[in-house]
Amino acid sequence: MRGATGAAEAGAVAVAATAEPLAAPLLDLHPAPADTRQLVIEGLSRSPKQLPAWFLYDAEGSRLFDLICQQPEYSLTATETALLEQQAPAIAAALGSGTLVEFGAGSARKVAPLLQALAEPAYVALDISAEHLQTACARLQGQFPQVPILGVCCDYSQLEQLPVHPLLRGSAHLGFFPGSSLGNFEPAAAQALLLQFRRLLGPGGRLLIGIDQPKAVARLEAAYNDAAGVSAAFAFNLLARLNRDLWGDFDPTAFRYRARWVPEASWIEMALVSLRPQQVQLAGRRWSFAEGEALITETSAKYSPEAFLKLAATAGWRGEKRWSDPAEDLSLHLLVQAN
Ligand SMILES: C[S@@+](CC[C@H](N)C(=O)[O-])C[C@H]1O[C@@H](n2cnc3c(N)ncnc32)[C@H](O)[C@@H]1O
Repeated sequence: MRGATGAAEAGAVAVAATAEPLAAPLLDLHPAPADTRQLVIEGLSRSPKQLPAWFLYDAEGSRLFDLICQQPEYSLTATETALLEQQAPAIAAALGSGTLVEFGAGSARKVAPLLQALAEPAYVALDISAEHLQTACARLQGQFPQVPILGVCCDYSQLEQLPVHPLLRGSAHLGFFPGSSLGNFEPAAAQALLLQFRRLLGPGGRLLIGIDQPKAVARLEAAYNDAAGVSAAFAFNLLARLNRDLWGDFDPTAFRYRARWVPEASWIEMALVSLRPQQVQLAGRRWSFAEGEALITETSAKYSPEAFLKLAATAGWRGEKRWSDPAEDLSLHLLVQAN
């Protein structure tokens, strides 16, 4: 755990309109290098090899993700943004009041219509990608000078370590988890994540969550394998990151990118597939890859509304409202605590 950067004290959080450039405070709680190394060792020791999806998001990964969102094949971002813009007044009325906590805020663009529609909002943005988060929060603070905004660089699946910042005191906070990011977690981990969010948001807390739904396989596979090759570049950036941060010698030309629908799991699996038998040095160890062996970079599960609400119920959440686009490509579910 690293120290706080920026003014994170209670008094510094409420930022007034001023002629000075606005800067939202940032708490940097990024996992320590030793923990990161351990996660990589565990992930490469698994069969199949797989790392937590957050490894994809260093500064370059975040930049590439924003580019993915502009690709015509990846319609999720445009659809969800339009839905939020159209339904913001109804969503804000159903959410009520409380600090809005976004899990995996990225460029924090989807939250703007909510901040516009909520009465007296405060906003906490959690994300693993520190530089990108800081830029996003500064941009948002300029757009909403009267809104208290805090950025927290952390792994949102490890919320036990989060200090109780003044904006997170009390209970009945409002969670926001767009982008269908829950799909990056396998069912047991997704359940654990929803339980953690419930604890952080406190009794009476609510969660607005965007969930991508199953659709034609060709459309799903194209969304994660865009013609411009940005999804592939995003995956290959993982190798560059591992080489840089953990003294690796991955040769990217010895892998190919693959995105495929796995019907029995109802998810898209994204992987870098070894083109030949090879050995790679990383984190002080030697790793073998067989020809055709995959390093899974990410999975993205798709849930029908019924399947998602069944999963949410196992973590003590009940669906209160649902908004969808006309094609029923995705849903925004408003969850309340079941007991
Ligand atoms: C798929 S993008 C979604 C971004 C944005 N919420 C949206 O809907 O467009 C996932 C975001 O969550 C962040 N992220 C992924 N895993 C994370 C984790 N375990 N903890 C914190 N942030 C994470 C990434 O850095 C990235 O900004």
